[in-house]
Amino acid sequence: MKLSVIGAGYVGLTTAACLAQIGHEVFCSESDSEKLAKLQSGGMPLFEPHLEDVIKTVRQAGRLFFGSTEEAIAWGDAIFICVGTPPLANGDADLSAIEGVARAIAKRGSGYRLVIEKSTVPVQTGAQLRKHLSLHSTNGLTCDVASNPEFLREGTSVEDFLHPDRIVIGVDSSRAADLMHEIYEPIVKQEFTCPIHAGCPKRKEPVFLVTDTGSAELIKHASNSFLAMKISFINMVANLCEAVGADVTKVAEGMGLDPRIGPAFLNPGIGFGGFCFPKDVQAFIRIAEKSRCDFSLLKEVEKINQRRVEYFLEKIAKELWVIRGKKIAIWGLAFKPNTDDVRFAPAIALVKSLVGEGAQVRAYDPEAMEKAKSMLPNITYCSNPYDAAEGADAIVIVTEWDEFRVLDWKRLLSTVEHPLIIDGRNVFAPEEISRNGFRYASIGRIDSAPCQPTVGETIDSSSSSAGNRAQEASV
Ligand code: UGA
Repeated sequence: MKLSVIGAGYVGLTTAACLAQIGHEVFCSESDSEKLAKLQSGGMPLFEPHLEDVIKTVRQAGRLFFGSTEEAIAWGDAIFICVGTPPLANGDADLSAIEGVARAIAKRGSGYRLVIEKSTVPVQTGAQLRKHLSLHSTNGLTCDVASNPEFLREGTSVEDFLHPDRIVIGVDSSRAADLMHEIYEPIVKQEFTCPIHAGCPKRKEPVFLVTDTGSAELIKHASNSFLAMKISFINMVANLCEAVGADVTKVAEGMGLDPRIGPAFLNPGIGFGGFCFPKDVQAFIRIAEKSRCDFSLLKEVEKINQRRVEYFLEKIAKELWVIRGKKIAIWGLAFKPNTDDVRFAPAIALVKSLVGEGAQVRAYDPEAMEKAKSMLPNITYCSNPYDAAEGADAIVIVTEWDEFRVLDWKRLLSTVEHPLIIDGRNVFAPEEISRNGFRYASIGRIDSAPCQPTVGETIDSSSSSAGNRAQEASV
């Protein structure tokens, strides 16, 4: 099929590339001229695992093109709207980009088009789209509107698109339902060349759920809000564990064994971030308010999350006593691993506060440093975790990148000034840290002091004060 995708952000670019991968001919537009030029010349405006390879393959096969919104509107029988819906000051989703695209389709589109809202939008946006497309149509355009919420996670979006658990579509005509089915048939049947798992056995077929437009829109906001609620819930359980001397990892494990609860999204930390959960929870609260539904449960979810960075700062202050003048290594800036996205990342608020209190911050993130630079100009960016830890009074783990799980402990111990790790993501088992000569503070667990290394494990780190103390301890 000939398909168009408007907007080349995380969602749009993944959608366009994957639709081309399963066999469609796709035209993807981007209004930011710099981004568009980059894409047209084979560059990538963002980091997302596997995406660059997929784009390269489908462009070579002549199934993916980049250009203007006007060209995209002229191209596809179905048009996916994937533009941003950022939060307004009052928490509402800003729908001006969606409205702009609707007007452009109404003005330039002709014949029949299926217009698909893929951007996360409040319930009833589909109805508004339908109304405005018909009000402003000038070239005899007739169209259906479908809602097709995306459930892609940054960092695994290609995998999520091609091997989803469910595909949800909200439609109000059988013609729209048939077209949506045709678009997704290769994914529903899991019949396409998978760029990630070449040669792997066929995957489980996803559920193809057809609803009305409003229900599909609600499924997206309700899903994200529910997951955010799970995170805030476990974060409060973590606080309680700290207060009573219990271990949140064990509590979460025990809870997750109940299939009605499940183990996912029960990792405590310094709060959820990114461009989805914070804005979607806010938008869902606003939708409920406007519909006169008292959804104050979600206000508490939001409040708990907003307090996480503050709580973590208190933890840092408790360990360091005075923050002013301290050298702090920050490991991880992205809102989660495997992405370079720092939008609403807890690291940004945390580092701003630490710098505001007079700390000297040396930061390292495998992918997100370029994007963080404009938001955090007054810190030192480092080329690896050890470089960031140079002379540090504390190492603070903010994002759980795999790279931080496999460390040269001796090198690290000889690099820092004080052997202290404050872990906002519970990356390590406390015993592993203490075995390697560090003091450890993590979330909702019983933390431990460093063990004295046994004779066979004597640490060769004579040049640093931390190493000296560890050696003294071993004598
Ligand atoms: C989220 C949803 O998971 C996707 O299904 C949805 O499509 C997407 O939003 C969207 O609306 O576009 P994403 O924002 O990429 O995806 O990130 P998640 O992996 O869901 O993580 C969100 C945040 O929750 C991160 O800050 C993460 O660190 C935090 N988190 C996650 C926890 O603190 N604890 C957990 O147990 C899980």
